[in-house]
Amino acid sequence: MAKLKTKFVCQKCGYSTARWIGKCPECESWNSFVEEIQDTSVSKKSKSIERKADSANILMLSGITETKEMRFSTGIDELDRVLGGGVVNGSIVLIGGDPGIGKSTLMLQISSKLHGKKFLYVSGEESAVQIKMRAERLGNIPENFYVLSETNLELIEAVIIQKEPDFIIVDSIQTVYRPELESAPGTVSQLRESTSKLINIGKTLNIPIFLVGHITKDGTIAGPKIIEHMVDVVLQFEGERTHLYRILRGIKNRFGSTNEIGIFEMTEKGLKEVPNPSEVFLSQRNYGASGCVISSSIEGTRPILIEIQALVSPTSYGFPQRTSMGFDLKRLNIIIAVLEKKLGIFLNKYDVFINVAGGVKVDEPAVDLAVAMSIYSSYKDVPVDSETIVLGEVGLAGEIRTISNIERRINESAKLGFKRILLPKNNLKYIDLKKYKIEITGVENIKEAQGKLI
Ligand SMILES: Nc1ncnc2c1ncn2[C@@H]1O[C@H](COP(=O)(O)OP(=O)(O)OP(=O)(O)O)[C@@H](O)[C@H]1O
Ligand SMILES: [Mg+2]
Repeated sequence: MAKLKTKFVCQKCGYSTARWIGKCPECESWNSFVEEIQDTSVSKKSKSIERKADSANILMLSGITETKEMRFSTGIDELDRVLGGGVVNGSIVLIGGDPGIGKSTLMLQISSKLHGKKFLYVSGEESAVQIKMRAERLGNIPENFYVLSETNLELIEAVIIQKEPDFIIVDSIQTVYRPELESAPGTVSQLRESTSKLINIGKTLNIPIFLVGHITKDGTIAGPKIIEHMVDVVLQFEGERTHLYRILRGIKNRFGSTNEIGIFEMTEKGLKEVPNPSEVFLSQRNYGASGCVISSSIEGTRPILIEIQALVSPTSYGFPQRTSMGFDLKRLNIIIAVLEKKLGIFLNKYDVFINVAGGVKVDEPAVDLAVAMSIYSSYKDVPVDSETIVLGEVGLAGEIRTISNIERRINESAKLGFKRILLPKNNLKYIDLKKYKIEITGVENIKEAQGKLI
């Protein structure tokens, strides 16, 4: 096979040269040249291209029958949900996350659930022995599982064609390289060309490929961001390493919604699915403690009950601190201002700390009222009834504004045995109160909410 020619292209203006230069003569930008493959096959071999075009699989859109079999389940419900209902054949999924979060573990666990499928695990980071050790720890040595410790994409392609796997995992995309390019693995050009080659392989052979990617903060080595637009699905594995819980979030999905999340717990036996997150997040709840309020947040299509904790204590410095874990700091400042204006408490001599228990992050306004009430409760040192769920967005005038997905939140609260739910009065119009076994109270403003709770 003839060696592919490469050229260096300025990423700002598109000027190309045969060798790398530091400054673009066209647009005068520095360090903007990236190596790219120069494809000359079209002009040189036009006859063979024609022959190829004849044999290519060109179809009329109206003639394609979409079949259900295109998708298959990974056997891990939390992952299936984030993928939009399973893996699509021929799709390319990029899964990114911090070091040690559990990317390789999750990839290995898929293989144990999918019996009868042939796996190819391309590992550029770990030796075959390490992978075997991990599989042993997870308690499962899958059959039909090939391990390939190789980073040269030409050889990887050859193995794929020879072994014809049903599922390919590349761990990680930063380590594989195309020998035609001079640049080192992990650089922008290698990442882009390697990914496009793998996409090509996956789409042609109709094999799903999972690419593991590292998040790098270093400017010189490109993170997976650069290839996000090329792949079909981008998943992000999140979580504090010190917490047990890991959240798998869809960032981009050509086959489904990106609102879904999957929740896992990291154990010695690998990642365990958490089918009922509310129970887990509330399992270490404080009963009767001041500053603790339960609220509900919608993650994807699922309502999750969470505990908002506030600590208000006299400041020891001249300037009061506002610290928030899992809740937006700007919103916290707004809520504090509303509390001061409408409830007449003055927090300028107090530090305010907010924590969403369990390491969860919430970014929807429906928990505003719970945050406000937890601050008030901590300030007054009077507990809020632990059987009550508090919901509502707080407006600047102290009004409690309508929130979305109210029925799902009520159902989840009732399911977990809560007695009472406080929600925006305007939401009551759309609720059939008799349908629920939980006491529902509507409130119009923050003053009224405080009167009903504390
Ligand atoms: N014996 C063990 N018991 C419990 N948890 C373990 C054990 N061994 C490893 N782990 C967990 O597995 C994690 C490593 O998982 P994994 O190697 O899948 O991460 P990764 O995202 O692939 O990391 P990298 O970026 O280094 O490839 C560790 O951070 C730890 O939480
Ligand atoms: Mg790994």
